[in-house]
Amino acid sequence: MKAGELLQVLMRRTGLSEPYQQALRSLEPIASPLAPEVALAFYDYLGRDPEMHEILWSVPGRVERLYRSFAAWYRELFSGQYDERYAERRMHIGLVHARVGVRPSHYIPAVGIVQELTLEHLRNALRGPEILAAMTAFEKIMAIEIALMQESYLNALTEGLKYTRDERAALVEGARVLLEKAR
Ligand code: HEM
Repeated sequence: MKAGELLQVLMRRTGLSEPYQQALRSLEPIASPLAPEVALAFYDYLGRDPEMHEILWSVPGRVERLYRSFAAWYRELFSGQYDERYAERRMHIGLVHARVGVRPSHYIPAVGIVQELTLEHLRNALRGPEILAAMTAFEKIMAIEIALMQESYLNALTEGLKYTRDERAALVEGARVLLEKAR
């Protein structure tokens, strides 16, 4: 299934209908200026885990580059443009992670941290019934993010198993091949 079609299915399954898309769009003026702050807290959290610290700090300049990539990713959550290009970018990010050995056991708890940081800010910035709609919309888009990420991991694994039976190596190699094909 193409990325854009998959996104449509996920929007239907999570119920990210027009009013929730609108809710996310309307959060953009609050959320966008928070992106650098969330990025800082996010990499601070990742750096406290020895394994993730090693992945992030083993390459000079990597974390500095990631602050910006993460902030751009974060702002896009509130863009209101959930189309084929959005889905393709997200699945591409999934492959980049698979290629560098970041696994779902790293990624999924990290998504929880993004949720925690964001919900804390929303609680402070919004009031009353607005909060519930904002939180529900945000949870829906994060569920979609996880599903797109997992699907791109499965694609990488399926591709990689053509070359090796070793699961870890297959994930990395499959992601490398798919990223190369997409260039
Ligand atoms: C909510 C979770 C996460 C988000 C939103 C996120 C976001 C991103 C983005 C946007 C990129 C750039 C992708 C590209 O080049 O197209 C990236 C790359 C990367 N991320 Fe993450 N990430 C997450 C979790 C993690 C975790 C848990 C790790 C573990 C250490 C990690 C390590 C990396 C590494 C090593 C790269 C490649 C950097 C490079 O190009 O050298 N990420 N991430």
